[in-house]
Amino acid sequence: MSAMPSDLAGQEIAGYRLEHELGRGGMAVVYRALDLRLGRTVAIKVLAPELARNDVFRRRFEHESRIAASIDHPHIVPVFEAGEAQGVLFIAMRYVRGLDLRALLDREGPLPVPRAARLFAQVASALDAAHAHDLVHRDVKPGNILVAEGTDPEHPEHLYLTDFGLTKKSLSLTGFTTVGQFVGTVDYIAPEQIEGKPVDGRCDVYGLACVVQEALTGAPPFRRDDDLALVWAHLHDPPPPTGISTEVDAVLGRALAKQPQARYGSCMEFVTALRRAGEGGARPVRPVPRPPAWAAPVFLTPDEPDEPDA
Ligand SMILES: Nc1ncnc2c1ncn2[C@@H]1O[C@H](COP(=O)(O)OP(=O)(O)O)[C@@H](O)[C@H]1O
Ligand SMILES: [Mg+2]
Repeated sequence: MSAMPSDLAGQEIAGYRLEHELGRGGMAVVYRALDLRLGRTVAIKVLAPELARNDVFRRRFEHESRIAASIDHPHIVPVFEAGEAQGVLFIAMRYVRGLDLRALLDREGPLPVPRAARLFAQVASALDAAHAHDLVHRDVKPGNILVAEGTDPEHPEHLYLTDFGLTKKSLSLTGFTTVGQFVGTVDYIAPEQIEGKPVDGRCDVYGLACVVQEALTGAPPFRRDDDLALVWAHLHDPPPPTGISTEVDAVLGRALAKQPQARYGSCMEFVTALRRAGEGGARPVRPVPRPPAWAAPVFLTPDEPDEPDA
């Protein structure tokens, strides 16, 4: 992006003093900041100035910020304020001390199914709550899942979902979307989003399933050399097996169905099915091949059911 707000650290915007940069994505920079009125630390997301100049985007930003701010959920980053000051659009939200899921996956590598199911149940509950408000996230990805320290040893991490309303939809309506170019990753995008069809919560079931597959195996379901090939794979290719178990593959296969109506009805339904599939024990995907008759153990009697020639 051309004119990303360069370095605003040290500056004051709308009563917040920006301290230092926490991270940046395709269309915004996030700063740790001090709310000068209340004296509390917050995170401020400053959107690229191009977006502030686009009226359609601005209206949509205001609308969706309002909805996002109205959802009160333990696993959704609370939004304190959204507005415009000095020519930039900004969002003030809770500062989450910790890392994002991208960093956690880079650090811990593929996660065992029970641990993944425990973590993603938190994200699933957040998404289902949003869907109950008719809000579809549309951009579920590791960078939008923040990982804070949990409350007790039983819950070592507390996950927060963030970035409602700053979605591909907001951008496509404003003519910004050229797949992969402006929006960023298409690793987690649902087929119906690609096709520009109306989306509902089931598009987040798909996005969540892509993130879950990455958490379990180290890679999202589809990896291709370029974005167009990747988009094609989301539309037409079956997801590859995880190598964990046929049960886990079946759960992911359903969550990643090309047709929304073939997926789970909610994110929690998906994660619950994943947890159950994980409880089935670590059965290998391919059954151990039976030896050919000439190699059968000699102590097998001919009438034994395991006799390969029976
Ligand atoms: N509320 C927050 N508290 C702490 N860090 C945050 C917060 N929101 C975002 N971040 C960090 O800032 C980074 C950049 O965010 P963003 O601009 O949305 O890009 P992306 O979502 O594409 O990674 C995130 O990956 C995250 O690590
Ligand atoms: Mg983000």
